[in-house]
Amino acid sequence: MMMKEVRWATQPYDGYSIRESLDPDEEFLRVGPSTPTGEYLRRFWHPVAMSEQLDRGSPVAITVLGEDLVVFRDLSGAVGVLHKHCAHRRASLEFGRIENHGIRCCYHGWHFDVDGTILDTPGEPEDSQIRHRICQGAYPAKEFSGLVFCYMGPGEEQPDFPLLDSMQIEGHDLIPYSIHSPCNWLQETENAIDPFHSVFLHGRISGPQFPGLEHFLDLPVVRYRERAGGVVYAHARRSGDEDLVRLRFHDYLFPNLAQNGGMFQVMNTPKAFGRTSLTKWVVPLDDENSRKFGWRHFNDADEVLRQGSRESVGWEKVDFYGQTAHRSDQEKRSNPGDWEAWTSQGRMNVHKREYLGTTDEGVALLRSRLRRDIRRVQQGKSVVGLQQSALGSIPTYGGDTVLRVPKSASDDAGLLASVIESVIDTHIAAGGLHADERASFIRQSINTSYPGAI
Ligand code: FES
Ligand SMILES: [Fe+2]
Repeated sequence: MMMKEVRWATQPYDGYSIRESLDPDEEFLRVGPSTPTGEYLRRFWHPVAMSEQLDRGSPVAITVLGEDLVVFRDLSGAVGVLHKHCAHRRASLEFGRIENHGIRCCYHGWHFDVDGTILDTPGEPEDSQIRHRICQGAYPAKEFSGLVFCYMGPGEEQPDFPLLDSMQIEGHDLIPYSIHSPCNWLQETENAIDPFHSVFLHGRISGPQFPGLEHFLDLPVVRYRERAGGVVYAHARRSGDEDLVRLRFHDYLFPNLAQNGGMFQVMNTPKAFGRTSLTKWVVPLDDENSRKFGWRHFNDADEVLRQGSRESVGWEKVDFYGQTAHRSDQEKRSNPGDWEAWTSQGRMNVHKREYLGTTDEGVALLRSRLRRDIRRVQQGKSVVGLQQSALGSIPTYGGDTVLRVPKSASDDAGLLASVIESVIDTHIAAGGLHADERASFIRQSINTSYPGAI
């Protein structure tokens, strides 16, 4: 007889009712080849390595979306991402020799170009046709600001490389970093669309964790806005009766790209159009491991506290609290950070055992949109892509805005909600403008809607 699936304890001392473990959502969380989510994720460019890994001159073995690959930069500077096992007899190309063009397998010397073409089979007769018949498995790759990106889907569905406006902000130095999490990719991904965790994890539970963001202790008013290929959302807070309203914008671009507001800033005077300090992708390695790749944006415009540290950003490190495994057990327990939160949900979180509340609106929105798009791909349809502006890049909005808007005596939460909606409208309307015009358009529009706000 089939046991009825019991999802939650419903009375005191009711642990016995939920003693059986439940399976994770297979459709959603499996990322390997030919799984629904794996196929969906293969419709996007993903960062898969740091350039500094290739600078050492040896091929690097990686696993992405459950596939074993090797990534290298040949002596001409071209980057290759090939299937790890050689097309001849499957020796690993991580032991291959890098050539002027491509890589040569250590076992019998077959030589592959970065696109998988076989250039040479030196042990075969001169008239061998092998190199005209087959190729090594290969994927298109591109380096950008210290990260190596790869597209692992069907050629006919390959999108343009996602050039974000935030990858070209004047005065921003993009410092690459990468951090492993021993859990399914969705757990860290969901953290980026859950602004309420900041109130508790980064504030009330063990004290403020991020300099300049102490106002996170207050519960925010949040609004989410869908856009082609993603969501922009913002949260607003007012401390007590003061006039200042602090807004933080986040970008979420499907499936796994997020941008925050600024780090190490001061938000005690009005400002408009602050820019992001963090661009990051959470890339599934396999069902139970993910690796974040991203950039810290070092800049003088928003990071006025000057507490960022470039030396602390790179492989398995970033310069703000709670993002890696590499802290003492005592520290993790006395002051748990993001990394503890998302990895402790388990190797693959069991959604059936969650009980979502009002703070989970963003998580629910993300899951429903991902599921919709996963099913679109299953039906043979294309994913909805990101839209470039006339400037040739994709507008993004991650950043902070501080406005002077007096408190409403009757419904301040309603006022904050309308301020958010209005400022989101303004940012989207200005998205296609050059940076200077964009900032002044935003400033003027906000001051028209809320005189004296900036
Ligand atoms: S296994 Fe690679 S050349 Fe033989
Ligand atoms: Fe966080």
